[in-house]
Amino acid sequence: MQTVLFAAPARLWAKYQAPLAEAFRQAGLRVQMADATTPPETVDYIIFAPGGLLADFTPYRRTRAVLSLWAGVERIVTNPSLTQPLARMVDPALCEGMVEWVTGHVLRHHLGIDAHILGQDGIWRGTHTPPLARERNVAILGLGELGSAAAEALASLNFRVTGWSRAPRELPGIRCLSGAEGLAETLTRAEILVTLLPDTPETENLLNAATLARLPRGAVIINPGRGKLIDDAALLAALDAGQIAHATLDVFRTEPLPPDHPFWAHPGVTVTPHIAAETRPASAARVVAENIRRDLCGLPLLHLVDRARGY
Ligand SMILES: NC(=O)c1ccc[n+]([C@@H]2O[C@H](COP(=O)([O-])OP(=O)(O)OC[C@H]3O[C@@H](n4cnc5c(N)ncnc54)[C@H](OP(=O)(O)O)[C@@H]3O)[C@@H](O)[C@H]2O)c1
Repeated sequence: MQTVLFAAPARLWAKYQAPLAEAFRQAGLRVQMADATTPPETVDYIIFAPGGLLADFTPYRRTRAVLSLWAGVERIVTNPSLTQPLARMVDPALCEGMVEWVTGHVLRHHLGIDAHILGQDGIWRGTHTPPLARERNVAILGLGELGSAAAEALASLNFRVTGWSRAPRELPGIRCLSGAEGLAETLTRAEILVTLLPDTPETENLLNAATLARLPRGAVIINPGRGKLIDDAALLAALDAGQIAHATLDVFRTEPLPPDHPFWAHPGVTVTPHIAAETRPASAARVVAENIRRDLCGLPLLHLVDRARGY
């Protein structure tokens, strides 16, 4: 019998209770969920999401792994009391959701859809023929689980896709670049730039005045990664100067985005409320159960976070 603690905001338990029970059953696991009376030193696994009460992992001496329900782990990876292995969420349904969100927003800007559906006024305007996808340069910063899936989906629509990662990568149909020189080259040709990097000390403010200036004039930015990837003031200045035509932002330094933040009122910014890709309880529960099953069988945990890299 394994003792599992659900350390996430209380409202999530209603969504996860049944899927977790089903996933544990299907994985052949016997699990009892910990409650407020369970001594921490008897907990075998912790399922974690930010915003819950658990901040000190020290008393969980027997815990074999902390399993994050979130793909991005910046709110736990720096916790000094966490000595247990940390696995992040790689959820096929979350990935599908991100691919759909990115593709939708890239197509919005590629086709200039707003010009036809916003402010209809009874005037039949002459059409501007957009380039075909095969003539459009799209770049993705981050070629991990989500970035590579989005890159492949866009390439399958014929976009000319360049992707950038830390270590060199090879993906069919994608121009893969890495390192500082690779970033400069990636930005230079990116008419539409999608940021799917994790929030780490190295990626903070990666899009700043200097890197935004490298983009082709009138470029579009789509950020479903993390708010800290972008220097907000530099982005606003680049929007006002026409260097950036539009920014579609799903993630922010402060969430919810404060009502008086200039992004809300800026005509060149679309704000979406961190909805690009949700972890889906049914599939996420299966990922969690599979990782516990593997660990109990002596197999390595999947999706382990490299604490030094921060993702
Ligand atoms: N808005 C939403 O709803 C939502 C939902 C889920 C996730 N997210 C965000 O999406 C992020 C990406 O998720 P994922 O699952 O794709 O992560 P992942 O698999 O860990 O991939 C991260 C990618 O970023 C690259 N990278 C990291 N640091 C870098 C650096 N300093 N320079 C260049 N490349 C760097 C990695 O390079 P290597 O390949 O060389 O390691 C990898 O390609 C998450 O961290 C989270 O912040 C947002």
